[in-house]
Amino acid sequence: MKQQFIDLGLQPIANGFLHPEEHEWFFRLAAGYDPETHLVSLMHFVDNTVLFNDRYIYCSSGSATMRTHFEMIAASIKNRHPRLVLEIGSNDGVFLKHFHPGAAIAVEPCGNFARVTTEMGYKTYPYFWNTSTVDLILQNHGMVDVVYAANCMCHMPDIENAFSLVRRVLAPEGTFIFEDPSVIHMLQRNSYDQIYDEHAHIFSLLALEKLLALAGFAIFNVEKLPVHGGSNRIYAHQCPTWRTSIADQLDEERSAGLDKIETYLEFARRVAQSKVELVELLWRLRAQGEKIIGYGATSKSTVVYNYCGIGPDLLNCVTDTTPAKQGLLTPGTHIPIVAPEVGLKPDVTAVFLGAWNFADEIVAKERAFAARGGKFITHVPNVRVL
Ligand code: TMP
Repeated sequence: MKQQFIDLGLQPIANGFLHPEEHEWFFRLAAGYDPETHLVSLMHFVDNTVLFNDRYIYCSSGSATMRTHFEMIAASIKNRHPRLVLEIGSNDGVFLKHFHPGAAIAVEPCGNFARVTTEMGYKTYPYFWNTSTVDLILQNHGMVDVVYAANCMCHMPDIENAFSLVRRVLAPEGTFIFEDPSVIHMLQRNSYDQIYDEHAHIFSLLALEKLLALAGFAIFNVEKLPVHGGSNRIYAHQCPTWRTSIADQLDEERSAGLDKIETYLEFARRVAQSKVELVELLWRLRAQGEKIIGYGATSKSTVVYNYCGIGPDLLNCVTDTTPAKQGLLTPGTHIPIVAPEVGLKPDVTAVFLGAWNFADEIVAKERAFAARGGKFITHVPNVRVL
């Protein structure tokens, strides 16, 4: 049974950027650790139909870093010459577009994005990952050679069932490749904003090894990825004779205490301290006359703003390059979201990196801001001015 280790208070839908007149609802955001499976999960799952629907706003092509990331993994998969690749959670087609439409199909429950990839020529099933979707795929295409999912498996509350459905659709010699934010990185970076409604689980290898085994999969390779604040890309298959040891990675997680509730409770204490330090820093800069804005209207920053009580009194606005987010308000705290050219005015002296996971890309892009003495503030791995 899950043991709660952190409570981030009442939170709105993390990607629920809204118009001024719109209503929003809040839920209790708390995470727990299951000592039996080692799985870290939300204590209360938010219904997936509330999170992933026709209005889903997060667009995977939104950064150069992610566009290159998907191009590289697509090239690596193509090198294996699979007959058919299935992507679960294809968003705007940032990965799919590297394949011939006859060689890749997709499942995407957000209707707006499913329409985009359908128009690009890819057969896209606009449904959630469930038994009837898998039945339909098997009926129309037969088994597939590769199942790929990026930042999607962790969205599925019933993860055991989700993995067993992958097993059903994957050819016996096929490969299951998926990537999601990892617990060890969250603990090392104190990035508590990885905990939000869409992340039903934050995976450790300790947990995945057990859960995948229940579905008949063995992990044969793990790649550590810098994206999304530190992720693991898992390669799993069903071939019992072909196993590569991941003992070293499992040992690393055990040494980091990922199999003990105390580690998570200690993390929660550091998070509480991070909140105090961030709020103090922002108010101090504000009192010194600095004009501060947020950079990147991310789901992660929704968690930080609501947990720390950061609203329009501290941040004048939040900039984001996604056109669909501009003109809306941040969930819960109602800070106006504007285009970067509108928000990053010459009188802005400091920015809080809501998109801290793209810090390198942003700092490189905003050299002129830094050159005139502009400050970049982050809370990861600790609260500081870069
Ligand atoms: P993510 O951290 O959930 O991937 O979201 C990144 C958000 O940040 C996305 O809305 C795009 C935005 N963004 C900018 O506004 N400017 C940038 O330079 C980068 C890299 C991202």
